[in-house]
Amino acid sequence: MITGGTNGMGFATAQQFIKEGGCVIITGRSTETVNKAVGQLGSNAFGIVSNAGDIEDLLTLQEKARRYTDNIDVLFANAGYGKFSPIENVDEAHFDELFNVLVKGTFFTVQQILPLMNENSSIVLNTSVVTAMGTSNFSIYSAAKSAVQSFIKTFAAECTSKGIRVNGVSPGYIKTNGFNNTGLSPEQIERTIQNIIPTIPFKRFGEPLEIANAVLFLASEEASYIHGTELTVDAGISIIA
Ligand SMILES: NC(=O)c1ccc[n+]([C@@H]2O[C@H](COP(=O)([O-])OP(=O)(O)OC[C@H]3O[C@@H](n4cnc5c(N)ncnc54)[C@H](OP(=O)(O)O)[C@@H]3O)[C@@H](O)[C@H]2O)c1
Repeated sequence: MITGGTNGMGFATAQQFIKEGGCVIITGRSTETVNKAVGQLGSNAFGIVSNAGDIEDLLTLQEKARRYTDNIDVLFANAGYGKFSPIENVDEAHFDELFNVLVKGTFFTVQQILPLMNENSSIVLNTSVVTAMGTSNFSIYSAAKSAVQSFIKTFAAECTSKGIRVNGVSPGYIKTNGFNNTGLSPEQIERTIQNIIPTIPFKRFGEPLEIANAVLFLASEEASYIHGTELTVDAGISIIA
């Protein structure tokens, strides 16, 4: 199961799992986006319309997933987006929106899907390299992603006895639809991207596939001794000065 699987890295991860012979349930906020993605992914894909920022949707996720299966091998809790604002301009709506989608959304997604997961299954949470850096205008997004990062450790502690491995993938700047949720105009997005590129050690944004490959690795037998940690996929931007 991949939350936020209609686009970007969630969609690329769904494609890769299907390519490896898996069946995938994806979520997204609208019937339109979910149906479109399921159509593109083919007959091994199933869709659930569920908003990770809505507690009613979150608390019915297990029931909706059971329409397709009682056994989930991999959960990639990925749904979300960033919005950015200087401290002075942050209002309660901005704060609650990001904490609802990213923190509440990740927590209750895992709580709901856990009963469908058996021994040798695996959970991967999508964090972000922003947790490793102090970036202006990112105070709320970074705090919310840091809470998700904390879940990697506490969930790993609780899931050890169930035989479920829990890890995180921490993406750097990845070429997705993500910027379209920020409220920036297309021109502002392009300017922001052009300003960011020189700061990336590889001088390019990452591809969604490069995150998908990391998720597949963490979920695979090859990662059988990896538990409670985060795999950073960022071209080194969080550690190279
Ligand atoms: N792009 C980056 O540089 C970057 C870096 C680090 C971390 N991240 C994180 O990576 C994750 C995926 O983002 P992306 O970059 O792949 O962006 P994207 O291309 O915009 O995809 C976001 C996905 O999340 C879904 N989504 C958004 N809000 C949702 C909600 N409230 N409930 C359910 N689904 C929701 C979207 O589906 P619908 O539109 O169909 O609802 C879409 O499938 C996010 O958690 C983001 O914070 C991104």
